[in-house]
Amino acid sequence: MRYIDFENIEVCPEWCFNNVRSVEQWTHGYHRYPAKFLPNLVKKLIEEQTTKDDTIVDLFAGCGTTLVESKIHGRASIGVDINPVAELITKVKTNPVEPAMLSLYFERIADALDKYNPLENENRMVHERIDYWFSPENKARIAFLYDTVLSIKKRPVQDFFLVSLSHILKNCSRWLQSSTKPQIDPNKKITDPFSTFQLHTKQMLKKNEEFYLYLQENKYLDTKCEIKLEDARKTSIGTNSVGAVITSPPYVTSYEYADIHQLTAYWYNYVANLAEFRKNFIGTFYSQNQQMECNSKNAQKIVSELQTKDERTAKEVANYFNDMEAVGKEMYRIVKKEGCVCIVIGNTTIKDVKIKSAEVFFEILKSVGFKRNTVIKRSIPHKLMPTIRDKDSGKFTKLDNTNHKLVYPEEYILILKK
Ligand SMILES: C[S@@+](CC[C@H](N)C(=O)[O-])C[C@H]1O[C@@H](n2cnc3c(N)ncnc32)[C@H](O)[C@@H]1O
Repeated sequence: MRYIDFENIEVCPEWCFNNVRSVEQWTHGYHRYPAKFLPNLVKKLIEEQTTKDDTIVDLFAGCGTTLVESKIHGRASIGVDINPVAELITKVKTNPVEPAMLSLYFERIADALDKYNPLENENRMVHERIDYWFSPENKARIAFLYDTVLSIKKRPVQDFFLVSLSHILKNCSRWLQSSTKPQIDPNKKITDPFSTFQLHTKQMLKKNEEFYLYLQENKYLDTKCEIKLEDARKTSIGTNSVGAVITSPPYVTSYEYADIHQLTAYWYNYVANLAEFRKNFIGTFYSQNQQMECNSKNAQKIVSELQTKDERTAKEVANYFNDMEAVGKEMYRIVKKEGCVCIVIGNTTIKDVKIKSAEVFFEILKSVGFKRNTVIKRSIPHKLMPTIRDKDSGKFTKLDNTNHKLVYPEEYILILKK
């Protein structure tokens, strides 16, 4: 295998998109999501690596950036994610609703909220964790809002408002919003659910209309776009059917997506038990796998070095690399001949050991059969990615943590063909 020295690759300015604002364009700003793709990056990959007839897949679809950009370019797309909150957001972001109808339903919701009577909405049972995060008043108001949205029987319309409600849950709770870990903010200015919902929904309505009209004008409204609530290691996507996979895998031990989305998951009954929900996420601290051996030489070297420092972390990282190997094989199965994979991935450091995820995944992709490679290095605008981590746990932290260190100022784009 031709050796590539990742560290000495020059940063490629045309992939950095400094000062480019695309995160609020179209429907991209509907819902916050950790480690969101930069839409410009996906746009450039679609334009350079795919043609009109290609189906584009994102195996870690998250909040659907790849699928939205695919639709804008008139390409069919499929997204896969294990997280039902990601599924809901992606579905809504990729399928705009007829604007006049949506506005009508919004007026009906506003009318219902005007008639809200707190006395009729006390002591509603949702989930014990909801009582931990919300004041009784806000809990009752959100329950009323939720019921009002559920009373809309047109599914795409109901889903649209569910996304808006999901987005504002953190604002209306005690959740510390600057943190990637679930913790209470004792000084928080908690906002009122009704007005926060209405404000955010108005912004979404505007974006929905712009997106709808753009797609209508370009005859892309019916461009196929599917989101599957599945595991990236084993999907129902057809063999040799995909023109390009464009994705960004979860980082190892950085975000606990199950924890981060627990407010929506509890309100919408997606989970009864967070411990069960967490297990299937790749990169989680709670992975059940016990295997310490990795087929990738780069991976094994990292795991062995970590074992000299901390057995538990070594196991987490080994699990992550083994999961990523399963994902690499799945990518090879679904991509058609001459199709490609475009992977956006960063390295990090945990317990002073360099976790070279980009090098490892590149090695995995070559070993499963991909060839003809390009590796691009880009720097990440700081506001888009937390760059501060706890030295020991490897988790994202705040600058005032004296044990912090900076990570991810750069990431790689791996492009390989089948
Ligand atoms: C880095 S985020 C992707 C963000 C996405 N690029 C975007 O623009 O929103 C990684 C995603 O991987 C998902 N994920 C984690 N484990 C998974 C698994 N086993 N199968 C499918 N998706 C998984 C998480 O739920 C998360 O949405």
